[in-house]
Amino acid sequence: MFNRRKVLQWGAASAVLPGLCTSMPARAEDAVKIGLILPMTGGQSSTGKQIDNAIKLYMQQKGDTVAGRKIEIILKDDAAVPDNTKRLAQELIVNDKVNFIAGFGVTPAALAAAPLATQAKIPEVVMAAGTSIITERSPYIVRTSFTLAQSSTIIGDWAVKNGIKKVATLTSDYAPGNDALTFFKQRFTAGGGEIVEEVKVPLANPDFAPFLQRMKDAKPDAMFVFVPAGQGGNFMKQYAERGLDKSGIKVIGPGDVMDDDLLNNMGDAALGAVTAHLYSAAHPSEMNKDFVAAYKKAFGNRPGFMAVSGYDGIHLIYEALKKTGGATDGDKLIEAMKGMKWESPRGPISIDPETRDIVQNIYIRKVEKVDGELYNVEFATFEAVKDSGKTKK
Ligand code: PHB
Repeated sequence: MFNRRKVLQWGAASAVLPGLCTSMPARAEDAVKIGLILPMTGGQSSTGKQIDNAIKLYMQQKGDTVAGRKIEIILKDDAAVPDNTKRLAQELIVNDKVNFIAGFGVTPAALAAAPLATQAKIPEVVMAAGTSIITERSPYIVRTSFTLAQSSTIIGDWAVKNGIKKVATLTSDYAPGNDALTFFKQRFTAGGGEIVEEVKVPLANPDFAPFLQRMKDAKPDAMFVFVPAGQGGNFMKQYAERGLDKSGIKVIGPGDVMDDDLLNNMGDAALGAVTAHLYSAAHPSEMNKDFVAAYKKAFGNRPGFMAVSGYDGIHLIYEALKKTGGATDGDKLIEAMKGMKWESPRGPISIDPETRDIVQNIYIRKVEKVDGELYNVEFATFEAVKDSGKTKK
């Protein structure tokens, strides 16, 4: 049994043999545990794989000890089902006593974990989900991914300025799709543009074909598309099969549909697509060239925007732990994260100290062939873009 005498004995023993006493409060030698919840199976698994890969790469490059403490990642697959996310987050917090929860491939998963982060007072580092409200759901949420408002407002303005007058929209029917649609429409219609067709497709296993015929019949100048990471390949296949590329209806949107990990297999139908986004594998910085080369060498394919969001997420955790000297008090970690600035493979980024959301450059890019491969080639930069989609101002 655990009585006072035993505690005293253990305490005495640990003074001589540090590290042996595991039932004492966390000490410098104990591992910092990160519960990483990602969709490793199912329709969103490309997101999970990219983030898991990027974290492995980062830890390979920087080592697995920070401020004298070993970092332990506990990976759990929620298949992007929020009930799973909630159960896994609970188990990680209660049984594994994790110091952080992280990952979250879709908005419903990030939201499901929010009350648990608040209750446990530990940081929830959102590395994928993109709906604006997420950071408002817990003071312990910090995001290194993006918001749909950041890119959809910018592509809305771009469309107006580039002679696009009629647009048909196709968006996934859940929170980030609704954000993408709302923020694009606001800017595009305020600039005089007209929405001639609006379709919403289911998140799970969408069949785009019937909707694409409606798009074609509406004869828009362009179609605005938001589908989450992992679905762009299938979407562009059906877009080409229905001959939309031949009828001159260009794809515009946030860059999720043109994710770099799928882009090169989309074929020439993707050429000319213009999207606004946070990351391109073709981003011309030295840091990104090194990141792309290292990622390709380790995993055999290009990193996409989810990989870079995961790479920055683990960086944020490392740097926060450095600032706290390895202490894992949740409030201190969140304070350490607020206002942090660094150079990412995507360009300069920071954490907004007011909202705990990411501030980043948004680039407008066009799909072009470079050395025989398809890339999103950046041609305009909007610097230090904050999320404009919060309900609280
Ligand atoms: C989301 O569910 O918030 C989400 C997922 C994938 C994306 C964008 C947003 O590409």
